[in-house]
Amino acid sequence: MNICVFASGGGSNFNALLQAKKDGFLNSDFKLLITNNSHCGAVDIALANDIDYYHISKKVFPDLSESDFHKLYVDILDEYEIDLILLAGYMKMVDTIVIRKFKNRIINIHPALLPSFGGKGMYGMNVHKAVIESGAKESGITIHLVDEFYDKGKILLQKKLAVNEDDNEHTLQKRVLELEHKYYPQVVKQIETGELILE
Ligand code: GRF
Repeated sequence: MNICVFASGGGSNFNALLQAKKDGFLNSDFKLLITNNSHCGAVDIALANDIDYYHISKKVFPDLSESDFHKLYVDILDEYEIDLILLAGYMKMVDTIVIRKFKNRIINIHPALLPSFGGKGMYGMNVHKAVIESGAKESGITIHLVDEFYDKGKILLQKKLAVNEDDNEHTLQKRVLELEHKYYPQVVKQIETGELILE
């Protein structure tokens, strides 16, 4: 498969996916990074690995009409013959036109056990803070398909971990990220092998 990663942040999941490719665990080609933040760590990772990246934001394309702006994503994804999109800390809603064109071909990773701690405002450290404040005894990761409803697409995989009494959002985030780095490549592998079929 030709894969495009969408990321806006540090890019540790992007890195873990690339590492899985370097280790020979994944066969797919990571063709492209799309970001809405040109200063993010994910861009540095793309540069270090010789992967093309596009910074797509209204600031960069102020003269494009709304519809041409949306079409830009599709044109770029087509140009790179992308089969699968992996969201890895992408801080923006994916455009509806992309969601429709890549139906069941966009995957997101969320740092908690959806449907809990998902939805509006539940991103980044907010998620871990909310888990700690709720007194939940468990958290974990959810890898799911992306549809037009935020954090509501079909769940492909969840893994749990215990929230310890002395955890704070930082210690929890660290352990959750370790799970993410382990299981995101595994889900991609399952798609490659056909063990997981995206209808
Ligand atoms: C991860 O926790 C992921 O679950 C969430 O955003 C974070 C991205 O982290 N969607 P990184 O940029 O991959 O380090």
